[in-house]
Amino acid sequence: MFGKSNELIGIDIGSSSIKLVYLKPKKKKGKRLFELKSLGQVPLPREAIVEGTIMDSYAVSDAIMQLVSEAQVKVKNVAISVSGNAVITKRMTISASTPQELEENLNWEIKHNTPFSPEDVQMDYFILPSQGDYMEILLVLAKKEKIGEYTSVVQQAGLNPVIVDIDAFSIYNAFEYNYEPFVSNVVAIIHIGATLTTIVIAKEGAPVFIREKDLGGDFLTETIQKEFGLSLEKSEAVKKGETAEGITKAALQGIMEMIFNDISSEVSKTVEFFSGQFPDAELERIYLSGGGSLMEGLGDFLEERFNLPVEYLNPFRNVLYSEKAFSVDELEKNAPIFTVAAGLAMRTLGG
Ligand SMILES: Nc1ncnc2c1ncn2[C@@H]1O[C@H](COP(=O)(O)OP(=O)(O)OP(=O)(O)O)[C@@H](O)[C@H]1O
Ligand SMILES: [Mg+2]
Repeated sequence: MFGKSNELIGIDIGSSSIKLVYLKPKKKKGKRLFELKSLGQVPLPREAIVEGTIMDSYAVSDAIMQLVSEAQVKVKNVAISVSGNAVITKRMTISASTPQELEENLNWEIKHNTPFSPEDVQMDYFILPSQGDYMEILLVLAKKEKIGEYTSVVQQAGLNPVIVDIDAFSIYNAFEYNYEPFVSNVVAIIHIGATLTTIVIAKEGAPVFIREKDLGGDFLTETIQKEFGLSLEKSEAVKKGETAEGITKAALQGIMEMIFNDISSEVSKTVEFFSGQFPDAELERIYLSGGGSLMEGLGDFLEERFNLPVEYLNPFRNVLYSEKAFSVDELEKNAPIFTVAAGLAMRTLGG
């Protein structure tokens, strides 16, 4: 949303790490494709971004500079995204016969039906498939203040932020490019980060419902830390499968199931809301994405709970890459971490 460009890099400014993806657009037999040229990740200190607010802009811009230099990318144009409480998405039915009228009506809606005033937000919208005289719109509002905060750190790193998207759309963008033609009509993409979970429900090729919740992989790390009295570093390692003295598999499993239950009930709530708005649509499949989704056993847990197929979203599924430059195993294993950055990098298509 908010701007278009040709050559750019996708940078996902997450609370636990910054991710970069650089794709080159290609044409093959008239089809537009992407080739992966570079990707990377640099961790952030825990206090650098708290609840989506950049507390230490130097730490963040330093990490961006390090990432770009390690990735050896010369392109300066960058697509970034914002999320969490700086963003509101709202589905609405609206009548308008001209683009100006649509804009005016949307401004009216913002003023009267959202907590924001039109001058404080950047607006974008997604036109959903609909019948009749009314338009179905997914309205997106992002606080200008938050956009300013995120674009500043990018500029501080010597780069040029040309697109500011929202996480949910970049996740959907990555999904769309990699999974078309779709095997299911209605899918939920559950993107679990370190502190934030974004759920996107897509119906017949359009993201129709978006919900975010402050829930993520770091909650598991913190619970392990508290329960077993470990350091944060050790807790993080235990979470990723390392063994530790005095911690049985069963004890760890118990804690993980607590977090899995929290995630499940969030998904259930979202599906209920969605069903309220789309009574005829039934969820058919779940895609998991984000670093937090790599918690071992989550996929099986959700599959059993929802009785639906659950698979990992691979944002490089239809992306070309040289097997000399990138290890297939590594790429597949870590792919879900790069969904947002990949979706942003795909903005080169102007989509
Ligand atoms: N192999 C793994 N097993 C379990 N958890 C993992 C694994 N790899 C990463 N994580 C967890 O994923 C989380 C980071 O995911 P991600 O990079 O998507 O978040 P982020 O974008 O930095 O955060 P946010 O979007 O919430 O601001 C951390 O909690 C990390 O511990
Ligand atoms: Mg994230």
